[in-house]
Amino acid sequence: MQIVELKKGIYWVGAIDWNVRDFHGYSTPFGTTYNAYLILDERNVLVDTVKAPFYLEMLGRISEIIDPSKIEIVVSNHVEADHSGSLPQIVEKIGNPIVITSERGKKGLEKYYQRSMNFKTVKTGDTLSIGHRTLTFVEAPMLHWPDSMFTYVNEDRVLLPNDAFGQHFASSQRFEDEVGDEVMRHAAKYYANILWPLAPLILKKVDEVVKMGIPIDMIGPSHGLIWRRDPSRIIQAYVEWSRGRMGRKILVIYDTMWGSTESMAKAILKGLIEEGAEARLLHLRSNHRSDIIAEMLEAKGILLGSPTLNNGMFPTMGDFLTYLRGLKPKGKVFGLFGSHGWGGGAVKEMRKILEQERFEIWEKGLEIQYLPDSEELKIALQFGKEFAHKVLNA
Ligand code: FEO
Repeated sequence: MQIVELKKGIYWVGAIDWNVRDFHGYSTPFGTTYNAYLILDERNVLVDTVKAPFYLEMLGRISEIIDPSKIEIVVSNHVEADHSGSLPQIVEKIGNPIVITSERGKKGLEKYYQRSMNFKTVKTGDTLSIGHRTLTFVEAPMLHWPDSMFTYVNEDRVLLPNDAFGQHFASSQRFEDEVGDEVMRHAAKYYANILWPLAPLILKKVDEVVKMGIPIDMIGPSHGLIWRRDPSRIIQAYVEWSRGRMGRKILVIYDTMWGSTESMAKAILKGLIEEGAEARLLHLRSNHRSDIIAEMLEAKGILLGSPTLNNGMFPTMGDFLTYLRGLKPKGKVFGLFGSHGWGGGAVKEMRKILEQERFEIWEKGLEIQYLPDSEELKIALQFGKEFAHKVLNA
């Protein structure tokens, strides 16, 4: 195995999951990694572990560097099983190391694994000398679980923030500067699907870390590539996404039964483009919900279209709105359209869900019976133009 050293004495000892394609509802066409870090000092420290089936891969990497029994401390930044899944096994292997975690982390790990460990809990600002280095801990509740925390290696200026700043991306490279700009696409999808609802907390936490005055040379997240060349790039992107960075992008997200809603969607799209929007058409059965959410991140307007089925919206739209309501994107304007046979229902049902979530909705909707004729397609085109005008000039 190739040994990956971040800084002298700090190693990546995680695992690469090349084959995972669904990460609890999030599509991962490029797989992911579970990152764990080994710090060699007078007291050797392992920061985080990997998903349980990858325990031997992590152990193999550690064993190439040191005898695992020489690890004295394991830091558990986050309880979720993709990072703590191998904790019971590595604790067993090492032989009762100190396990450093937040107070909520301790409760979570005890409940998950139903066993006692040699816990030492920490709070924001607590430090631990491990010889030549000092570790500083920063609690990060709800980024993205209540137990989450960051570990910072003072002398090396390395931040290990667990899930924050990650990407679901498996590759043979470990550092973002070895891959290029593609990394931002994966980071944006990750932010949109995991961290978006926590935008206000992210802004607060970034502010808090800035006020702590800790310089950051490198960020080692728990998934994907390590930010080495310019870590401020991903911090700045998180700030901008959390503030709601938006361009001239408007999305048309739809499904269709016999092509009527699709004809409307394409006419609306034409209207959006004619009005100067950067518009995209996204069919719900051709695009995974998590990819559509990633597209939404920098969109200003969202048009949702559904045919009526059994007096309500199409099931794929129900699935999408269920996912969307949990992510609570702020600052978008929604518009609604749909087609029906003898009785409507889809637009009304979509509107009800959006109203419940207090999303901003354009009051004007568009509904057409059966197949839209040429006059109705002109109306749809005009509908798109008006929506773009409203959204882009807001
Ligand atoms: Fe919250 Fe990567 O687990």
